[in-house]
Amino acid sequence: MNTCTTIDPSQIDQMSVHNYLLSAVAPRPICFASTIDNKGNVNLSPFSYFNVFSSNPPILIFSPARSGKDNSQKHTLLNVLEVKEVVINIIDHPLLEQMSLSSAPYERGINEFVKSGLTQVKSTKILPPRVGEAPISFECKVNQVIPLGDGPGAGNLILAEVVLMHFQNKFLNNHGNLDTTKIDWVARMGESWYAKINKEVLFQIPKPANKNCIGVDQLPQSAQKSTVLTGNDLGQLGKNERIPSQQELDQLKNANFMRNTLNTLKDEDKISHLHQLAKVELAKENFLNALAIVFLAEQV
Ligand SMILES: Cc1cc2nc3c(=O)[nH]c(=O)nc-3n(C[C@H](O)[C@H](O)[C@H](O)COP(=O)(O)O)c2cc1C
Repeated sequence: MNTCTTIDPSQIDQMSVHNYLLSAVAPRPICFASTIDNKGNVNLSPFSYFNVFSSNPPILIFSPARSGKDNSQKHTLLNVLEVKEVVINIIDHPLLEQMSLSSAPYERGINEFVKSGLTQVKSTKILPPRVGEAPISFECKVNQVIPLGDGPGAGNLILAEVVLMHFQNKFLNNHGNLDTTKIDWVARMGESWYAKINKEVLFQIPKPANKNCIGVDQLPQSAQKSTVLTGNDLGQLGKNERIPSQQELDQLKNANFMRNTLNTLKDEDKISHLHQLAKVELAKENFLNALAIVFLAEQV
């Protein structure tokens, strides 16, 4: 068992809770929110308390929190309480520094489009403008604002319903869908850290949806306790939909390569060697073969 440090948030100060939470819940997407007050002053600020929570209705949620220093509310919140509309722009890496600049504590009424040198493009269905350089922008109506507290650091959930979506064409594929590999994504981590997420670091794993996966608990004990197979290996093995039959295991055991392998190994090395072989099959995406090998390992 790994050793752990356990902390009760009520026993430490607000800034420390803030730091633990924001370093732990990462990477977070960034909402670059454009709002307007009832005099028509435009505001643009980033928020990483942000995500999508529903597609029907299409709802995005972000949270301007009360200042940890003086408990004041963010201008973005004050604006949406006056004009219940927001454009949520998604940024890519080329917008990172201008986005960061826009988060400086400018006075209320100062337009951060101007301060950060970004282009205001008139929205179609709502008053606040969108960021012309953003790869994606969502015009939203604000359905609800839920205050989460009244002390420093307290969030205010803004539930925003998407009424119009804009995607730069260069980020779409031939089917008109957003191509994840075409955007240089950025995400917020703890402290001053960011993550750059692009084609080089992206990978896919098959979804287990609609599959009757056997689960790790159905794997032989020798596999579950293996020092060779990792948690990721066990997860892949558990995604198989059936356990190999005894007939399949006998066939595998009698195959020439397996007979030779087993004959040359000392008894105490057989299980770990077979687990290494199973890893090779997993790397080749031969999931059922890998599963048969770990079941055979239990019998040798
Ligand atoms: C990447 C990034 C993410 C941020 N996320 C949040 C957030 O989720 N909630 C928040 O209250 N402030 C967040 N901030 C700080 C605000 O952007 C900053 O306080 C800004 O001045 C608020 O502007 P406003 O008062 O004009 O709304 C973030 C800053 C950056 C750079």
